[in-house]
Amino acid sequence: MQVVDLGAAPGGWSQYATQVIGQQGRVVASDILPIDPLPFVEFVQGDFREDAVLAEILKLLKEEKADLVISDILNMSGVDAVDQPRAIHLCELALDMAKQVLKPKGDFLVKLFQGEGSEAFIRNVRESFRIVKFGSQQPQDLAAGRFMCWRRVLCCNISRIGVKTDNAS
Ligand SMILES: C[S@@+](CC[C@H](N)C(=O)[O-])C[C@H]1O[C@@H](n2cnc3c(N)ncnc32)[C@H](O)[C@@H]1O
Repeated sequence: MQVVDLGAAPGGWSQYATQVIGQQGRVVASDILPIDPLPFVEFVQGDFREDAVLAEILKLLKEEKADLVISDILNMSGVDAVDQPRAIHLCELALDMAKQVLKPKGDFLVKLFQGEGSEAFIRNVRESFRIVKFGSQQPQDLAAGRFMCWRRVLCCNISRIGVKTDNAS
């Protein structure tokens, strides 16, 4: 299984993914910030909006594309009026990249903040992914309006990396 982790620094999601998929799998992580080397994680440093980063990720994936893209890309200022549109924009860009690096039946898991633009983003996701579900690792995430969405096909695998599969819509 191949996992691409977007917005990976400092590496928590990548570390967890390596534990779940084991040494036969591959985690390709990327972030604009450096990370300390992590066992079984290959890292691409750069802005994921740049073509060179996409090219390097595809190179590391070799012949096969990814089974799962996880995205926790955030760039928060603390000002809601700035952060929500920025977060949605980054989710849209992550969705674009996911479509380019995923296998046809691959899955996309993204951290999404509920608010202005989130419904439109979910509609976009639905155009590309057959099943969209919402969940949260933590009750406080749900309370704060943070959701994950992903396609169902590999939801067993995704459940194994710690995301509840209830609250389906
Ligand atoms: C919430 S942190 C990710 C935490 C990570 N999932 C973990 O488990 O350790 C969000 C990350 O998104 C990265 N990021 C924001 N904008 C980015 C961009 N344009 N390209 C690449 N990474 C970006 C930030 O550098 C930051 O490390």
